[in-house]
Amino acid sequence: MPASDAPRFLQLHRPDTEALRTELTEGLLATPARAEPKFFYDRLGSCLFDAITELGEYYPTRTEAGIFDAGIADMARVLPPAAVLIDLGAGNCAKAARLFAPLQVGAYVAVDISVDFLRHTLAALQQRHPALPMLGLGLDFSQTLALPDAAQEWLATQHRAQAPRCVFYPGSSIGNFTPERALALLRQAHALCRAGGPGGGLLIGVDQVKDHGVLQAAYDDALGVTAAFNRNLLLHVNALLGSDFAPARWRHVAFYNSAESRIEMHLESDGAQTVRWPGGERRFVAGERLHTENSYKWTPERFRSLLTAAGFGPATHWSDPRGWFSVFWAPV
Ligand code: AVJ
Repeated sequence: MPASDAPRFLQLHRPDTEALRTELTEGLLATPARAEPKFFYDRLGSCLFDAITELGEYYPTRTEAGIFDAGIADMARVLPPAAVLIDLGAGNCAKAARLFAPLQVGAYVAVDISVDFLRHTLAALQQRHPALPMLGLGLDFSQTLALPDAAQEWLATQHRAQAPRCVFYPGSSIGNFTPERALALLRQAHALCRAGGPGGGLLIGVDQVKDHGVLQAAYDDALGVTAAFNRNLLLHVNALLGSDFAPARWRHVAFYNSAESRIEMHLESDGAQTVRWPGGERRFVAGERLHTENSYKWTPERFRSLLTAAGFGPATHWSDPRGWFSVFWAPV
């Protein structure tokens, strides 16, 4: 296997600004107004998310890390060696990097919509693992998840044309999708794994339904970091759209919607105001909300059925002593 000094970085998410602007204006003009959670993650948004994971109230990251620490030997027994690890929403790549040695990962493909952040972290990671082939893909997999031809060619030359593929989707990011869209994404993940031949599968972290107070605090922390993360979306939208959102005029609102099994995050207008951008505007009345995120919570039973419906074989499940978070290995 050829060693490499620098990761080969494929920028396939050419920030198609036109498409993003269209999507944004459609959402802003809708009633209720909405913006997809992917618009949280500009450079500052990715840093703020990292800060959230350090908060006492935000249990998912450290609970999931505990499950991996306790279960890694088990996981190494059920996951195939020398696999291609395909990391969805790689961010700072730290979670995947902890799997490289114990799972004997053969090649690493990091996928993230926040390209600048990914480029930086991947360059640092390649220095620490000079012999591991690494590829960075800047793309938005929220609509379509598939490896581009250039990435397939890269795998064939750097690793093997056929090697078990492990799709790694930690952090409960699947929670951003409605159950219908989650199923569609998992079906695509299944097809992606199966294309690598037998042995592959999906390693996924899922947040569980739990005490509402615990959920609420995790998304409305005392320091206001989640509020800043939520409001920063407006600055990112301003940069993309040329709009004039004033973040200070929007209140962070987060609550658990038990009928839908999801945390909802909104930004609430502090008074009547008009937001303008080149070619459009949106009036908001006092107290009107912009819906920025859903974070669905699952029971292990319901998530297991979702995996089966997506085409995966019988899943292995790990959890923490409190039963707050789940990690599933779902084989192709
Ligand atoms: C990255 C989608 C898993 O839903 O917990 C954290 C994002 N939003 N705090 C989550 C988030 C507010 C996070 N995910």
